[in-house]
Amino acid sequence: MKRPIIIHPDPRLKKLAAPVPDLSDDLRVLAEDMLETMYAAPGIGLAAPQVGELVRLVVVDCVKEDGAPPRPIAMFNPEITASSDEVSTYEEGCLSIPEIYEDVTRPAAVTVRWIDPDGNEQQEDFDGLWSTCIQHEIDHLDGKLFIDYLKPLKRQLITRKMVKLKRERAREKA
Ligand code: NI
Repeated sequence: MKRPIIIHPDPRLKKLAAPVPDLSDDLRVLAEDMLETMYAAPGIGLAAPQVGELVRLVVVDCVKEDGAPPRPIAMFNPEITASSDEVSTYEEGCLSIPEIYEDVTRPAAVTVRWIDPDGNEQQEDFDGLWSTCIQHEIDHLDGKLFIDYLKPLKRQLITRKMVKLKRERAREKA
C-alpha cells in the first residue's frame, strides 16, 4: 500500500529515528509499502521518517540501466562502517523536497552493514549512485536533509519554496 510522503519543512523530518530492536510483520509491511511508494513516486530511495515512521529503515533501488532487472533493497538499522577518502559529486533530489536538485559532495564509496527483512545481517560495498543514495537515505534517519549541505541562504530559499508548494497543495485539496 502506498503511503503519503511528508514534504519539507516538517518536524518529523528533523528527528532522530530509533533503531529497530526486533523485526516484526508490521515492519516488513512498512518496508514493502515504502518500496511501493518509492517506485510509484518515482524515486530511487526512501527513508521511513519520510512516511512518518521514526524507525531506522531505508529502501533503495538505484538500477538505472534500461531493461535491467530491479534490485529493491530494504535495510533495517543501516550503518556505514567505512567511507572512501575519494569523493564524488551528484546532483541530488529528494521525494520530500520535490523538483529541487542540487550538487552534493560525499564519499565516493561506502561499506554498509544492515539487517535484511529476514533478519539476516548483510554487508556490502557500494559506489557510484548507490553510494550517494544510501548515504542520503541514512542521513534522513538522523534528521538530516541534502539541503543541509548547501549554503544557508540557498537552503532558506528552497525551504520558502516548499512552504509555498505545501500551501498550494493544501489549497488544491480543500
Ligand atoms: Ni531524501
